[in-house]
Amino acid sequence: GLFTAGCGSTSTSSDAGKTGADKVYVVGTDASYAPFESMNGEKIEGFDMDVLSAAADAGGFKVQFQNTPWDGIFLTLKNNDRDIVASAVTITDDRKKELDFSDPYFEATQMIVSKKGAELKTLAELKDKKIAVQNGTTGDDVVTKMLGKDSPNIKRFENMPLALLELKNGGVDAAVGDNGVVLEYTKNNGAGDFVTAVDSSFEKEYYGFAVKKGNTDLQTKINDGLKKIKANGKLDEINAKYGFK
Ligand code: ARG
Repeated sequence: GLFTAGCGSTSTSSDAGKTGADKVYVVGTDASYAPFESMNGEKIEGFDMDVLSAAADAGGFKVQFQNTPWDGIFLTLKNNDRDIVASAVTITDDRKKELDFSDPYFEATQMIVSKKGAELKTLAELKDKKIAVQNGTTGDDVVTKMLGKDSPNIKRFENMPLALLELKNGGVDAAVGDNGVVLEYTKNNGAGDFVTAVDSSFEKEYYGFAVKKGNTDLQTKINDGLKKIKANGKLDEINAKYGFK
C-alpha cells in the first residue's frame, strides 16, 4: 500500500504539523524530477516550486522545500514531518483514500521511451520486454496492471534518473514515466537516440499538492492561492517559462 514503502524520516525541521501566523509549511519533494523539481546546488527548484511558491504568495502563507525520497513520501504527511508534498504527484482515487489533494495544477500522461531502433511505441509491445519505472508511481501502475506485480520484467527504481539510466545502459528495453520528465531527459541525452510514445490507453493525469488527510485548512489555503494565480495569469506565466502550453 501507499504507506508501507519506507525510508526513515529525513526531516530537518521540527516545524511541520505546527500552526500559527508565522508558520512556514514544510514541503516534501523528490528533487530528482526535472523540470518539476531538481537540485541546483543546495537549492530545490522547478515548476512545482514556482507554482506552489506563487500560490503561497497569493494565498498569504509561507513554504520551505525539503528534498525527500519518493519511497515513503506520503508517510511524511501522516507523521507530520512534512505539511505538503509537491512532487509531480498524480491525483488518484487510491491516494485520495489516504491523502487530501489541492485542485489540479498540471495535466500529464504516461510516456514510453525506448532506444532508437527498438521503437517500442505501445503498451502491448512492451509485453515481453524489460521495463524500468520509478517504484510506486503511476508509471509503475500502468506496467504492473499489464504484467502483474511480480513480473520479473519490471525493474523498479527509487528515482526516475536511475530508471532512465538503466535504459541508456541497455539494462531494459523501455522506461515508462511522466511525459514531462521523459521529454526533459531525452532532450538532454541525445534526443535522436530515443523514441517516445504515448499509448492510447494512457489516461490524462493531473498533478495536485498533497496534504495530510483532513487538513482542510491548508488544502483551502493552497486552493485559494491556486485560484488566484490561475485567474491573474501567473500560472500561465510559469507554464510558459517551462515551455508548457
Ligand atoms: N506523477 C507520477 C505519480 O504521481 C510520478 C511522480 C514522481 N515524482 C517525483 N518527484 N519523483 O506517481
